[in-house]
Amino acid sequence: MSGQWTIDPAERAALHARSLADPDGFWLEQARRLDWITPPRTAGDWSFAEEDFHVRWFADGTLNVAANCLDRHLATRADQTAILWEPDDPAHAPRRLSYAELHAETCRFANVLKGLGAGKGDRITIYMPMIPEAAVALLACARIGAIHSVVFGGFSADALAGRMADCGSTLLITADEGRRGGKRVPLKTCADEAAQIYDGLKTILVVRATGAEVPMQPGRDVWYDEAVAGVAAECPAEPMAAEDPLFILYTSGSTGKPKGVLHSSAGYLLWAALTHQVVFDHRPPETYWCAADIGWVTGHSYIVYGPLANGATTLMFEGVPNWPTPSRIWEVVDRHQVSILYTAPTALRALMKEGDGPVRATSRASLRLLGSVGEPINPEAWRWYHDVVGEGRCPILDTWWQTETGGHMITPLPGMPLKPGSATLPFFGVEPRLLDGEGRTLTGEAEGNLVIARSWPGQMRGVWGDETRFFETYFRTFPGVYTTGDGARRDADGYYWITGRVDDVINVSGHRMGTAEVESALVLHESVAEAAVVGFPHDVKGQGIYAYVTLNAGVEASDALRRGLRDWVRHEIGPIATPDAIQFAPGLPKTRSGKIMRRILRKIAEGETGGLGDVSTLADPAVVEDLVANRVG
Ligand code: WTA
Repeated sequence: MSGQWTIDPAERAALHARSLADPDGFWLEQARRLDWITPPRTAGDWSFAEEDFHVRWFADGTLNVAANCLDRHLATRADQTAILWEPDDPAHAPRRLSYAELHAETCRFANVLKGLGAGKGDRITIYMPMIPEAAVALLACARIGAIHSVVFGGFSADALAGRMADCGSTLLITADEGRRGGKRVPLKTCADEAAQIYDGLKTILVVRATGAEVPMQPGRDVWYDEAVAGVAAECPAEPMAAEDPLFILYTSGSTGKPKGVLHSSAGYLLWAALTHQVVFDHRPPETYWCAADIGWVTGHSYIVYGPLANGATTLMFEGVPNWPTPSRIWEVVDRHQVSILYTAPTALRALMKEGDGPVRATSRASLRLLGSVGEPINPEAWRWYHDVVGEGRCPILDTWWQTETGGHMITPLPGMPLKPGSATLPFFGVEPRLLDGEGRTLTGEAEGNLVIARSWPGQMRGVWGDETRFFETYFRTFPGVYTTGDGARRDADGYYWITGRVDDVINVSGHRMGTAEVESALVLHESVAEAAVVGFPHDVKGQGIYAYVTLNAGVEASDALRRGLRDWVRHEIGPIATPDAIQFAPGLPKTRSGKIMRRILRKIAEGETGGLGDVSTLADPAVVEDLVANRVG
């Protein structure tokens, strides 16, 4: 089959070796994929050492990201569909925006933003449903040099307000409502609530999506369709330095407050475009579908920036995989003749439960490649994806990466030998290492902390508003390398197997959640004295959320309170943070210095109550007996 793919599998290893041996040559050559205003003469300029810490790529180049995604395609593919939108309700009509239309709409949107006073360097928050205008909003920000911060539409008003306050957005782009799985999502109502919490918000630009009646506050709220009437469909693309920030995306870490991961313009775009083309062997004008939400990094890199930079027809899906039927995802594949499908293991596991029937009822003959992202894919789901969905014909691309990495880091390339459950080998320019707990490099077959030993163009550039947090979070524990927070195993063939997070982050249905965030929400409840949250294995979600809650004196434990606490967390953070299990605990296992022993809580939640290990250092060992006896599950 070699010769069939963008990268000949026989040449992969040599190319990877070259990307490490001659990084400047390799990356300056790759940089020619982009359309520069001033082409760069330098590639990577970075140091992970504390005294000289910096990360820059192509720093003397200038370009505009939106121009790379739109303008440069106009000569060759103006009439090709850029965004193919599949609505939540299959009875509604799909929408198609050609590159010419997307260009014009982006320019109009950009002009509206300018009219509202926005410009280069301003932070604009986007809280949108999965409609084409969401992608247009991102591109419009990029066109005028504003920094977008997308907040997932499933987050609560509180979460939205906190993220706007953190980056000082004065402008919010939202919609009246969203649609998902036959239900309405009240986005504008949440935005109004967020505006009550964060008074720095001056303008809410509202896109009409469902046509619902929503209250508009004069002087603050603006309908997009009214603002855009008569606005020019031409807007010059702002020249941006390669290192100018493109976006902020908040993500969960070990601490309570999500951090605003900051990405650059040029390095990020190059990484998204190169990985999208090479890993998915993408050939325009075939239809490519990344079934993620624009609120996550996967949506940024692989619905919007990578595909559009490559002139793809990118499918944007408003709905959910199993509504109105468990065949929906495959019906969409058939309806739009999708060649490449990229989704998350959690969706596959949920669909697998419905049996093979709903899949076999569809053709799927158009599929060529299948991608997976967001969490480790268990071999059973991998095989089902490969054998049933792809009928043995499509390579499975299990792509390991993170919000921080901008795009794929450890991933197969099509045509190379695969192993179910392994993300296989590093992408070009990526140098992974495994370290033991003391920071010693492990060689050969080994399991340890996964770190990356050198910078790559798509690497995050900072944490918004906190100069030191980037270094402290990712470079303090193991000096000189980027710490991923994941564990991994390397087998005899050098293949990597991601084992999951080694920190206090859990992965629920492919969504990253900090246990500390859920704990902070729980202790805000009037009945709660203390809370500790851990992950536990969940057969569909990958990990579920298990919360141990100590109630205030005099508060009665009850099922009603349990439901109340679940609703509370949903309201504080959003439905994705809803605890799957809540155990009322009179006390938590603590060391004599008062530190909660999470190891023990994890074991109990996992049901491994036999092997709790040494509990003698606990202040009160009796606490453990009670926890074991009253385990929920
Ligand atoms: C996990 C999503 C195993 C991992 C792109 C990582 C994976 C976290 C995979 C980042 C994979 C992502 N195999 N684990 N193919 N892809 N992860 O920032 O724990 O939302 O650290 O980025 O998801 O999640 P994030």
